[in-house]
Amino acid sequence: MDRFIIEGGSKLSGEIAVSGAKNATLPVMAATILAAGEFKLENIPNLIDIKLMGHLIRMLGARVEHEEGRMYIDTTNLDGWEAPYELVSKMRASIYVLGPLLARFGKAKVSFPGGCAIGTRPVDLHLMAMEKLGATITIEHGYIIAECEKLVGADITFRKVSVGATANSLMAAVLAEGETNLYNCAIEPEIQSFVEFLIQMGADIKGVGTSHLCIKGVPKLNSVKAEMLSDRIEAGTFLIAGAITRSEITITNCVPNHLGEFFDKLKLAGCGFDIMGNMITIKPGEIINPVNIKTAPFPEYPTDLQAQFMALMTLSSGESVIEEGIFPDRFTHAAELNRLDANIKVDGNLARVRGVKQLSGAPVMATDLRASAALVLAGLAAQGTTEISRIYHIDRGYESFEHKLTSLGANIKRLKG
Ligand code: EPZ
Repeated sequence: MDRFIIEGGSKLSGEIAVSGAKNATLPVMAATILAAGEFKLENIPNLIDIKLMGHLIRMLGARVEHEEGRMYIDTTNLDGWEAPYELVSKMRASIYVLGPLLARFGKAKVSFPGGCAIGTRPVDLHLMAMEKLGATITIEHGYIIAECEKLVGADITFRKVSVGATANSLMAAVLAEGETNLYNCAIEPEIQSFVEFLIQMGADIKGVGTSHLCIKGVPKLNSVKAEMLSDRIEAGTFLIAGAITRSEITITNCVPNHLGEFFDKLKLAGCGFDIMGNMITIKPGEIINPVNIKTAPFPEYPTDLQAQFMALMTLSSGESVIEEGIFPDRFTHAAELNRLDANIKVDGNLARVRGVKQLSGAPVMATDLRASAALVLAGLAAQGTTEISRIYHIDRGYESFEHKLTSLGANIKRLKG
């Protein structure tokens, strides 16, 4: 397995362009199942998860070609309706094919999802919504088996905000008979851009950007051309790379107002920003102030930038408290950061981070996508050499991560394992 070797202490400079958003692209790829035709998608990131989703819809009978940020998907001959264990177990987002398969074929057989190691990842909200829309759901030998004569519009309230369940329910509702009202929907930018994509395909959806989406089923949808949203989590990760190395760097091709509360927290930590259109330049302060965060649905602090912020707080001038409000145990990076001489105490969904003067390089292990990014950021600031194993996690969600960091002056190398 590949490893990163990082020599810490380099100042960074220059600018990098953010890639397309993984979490905007995955539901869009699944939604191509809803219409028979040719899709041309732009600004597609080159990631393991995108390859896995492409392989899944190819297995269902679509033609999928992906090169240089462009993806061509032809779903004309798509006739499969089973998402097998060996694929779904590698990526939780495979569950996204459930809604569109039910909508197109009236049946779907999807293995229970796996995904990254951030606790149990239930899908009860997805299944509740499909049943409300008229599907019969049975669970057999680790598979979700869903069937329906036809999907019929319904009123659905999510007991908690769920990005995935919102996306899946939208894909089932757009071809259902009659009106569907979804309440307490996720309003993440990736969901907003997904709603716009479905409308472009011919769906009738009102309420984009709000937590109440009203969908009127239509008889047919069409294939389209579309450009993917840029990745706000990648943008945030690189801004923290600037903050933790006290470097002034510029991020381009991003959408500043998609970073919500993240900006406010970095400002409290002592960073200034120059923002011009889709460019952000970070100007870190001399010291890193301790700042408390609590992760919550958009526009509050994003859970996917929690680990990266914790890495920054390990070098703050005081104590900060990080509360993980979305996933039950998304602190696997804390123990690894402590191996770099950080001082973090985890207590349930709270992590108390007491800033230290200096991190020191050591061998550490990546455990999930964003935890891996946090270890890289800490390694950039640590004294000496940090070796990070199991970096396939990084390749799931960050395109050319080490190349982008190297272009900013970081001393990071990939050792093929
Ligand atoms: C999406 O995951 C993202 N993944 C995650 O990003 C992100 O962390 C998460 O949303 C929250 O923003 C993709 O978009 C592919 P949820 P998802 O449903 O949809 C619970 C990354 O690093 N829940 O919004 O799986 C769930 O356990 C990944 O790019 C249920 O209880 O997350 C969690 O506590 C990691 N029942 C909360 O809701 C359900 O049926 C929010 O999860 C579904 C979810």
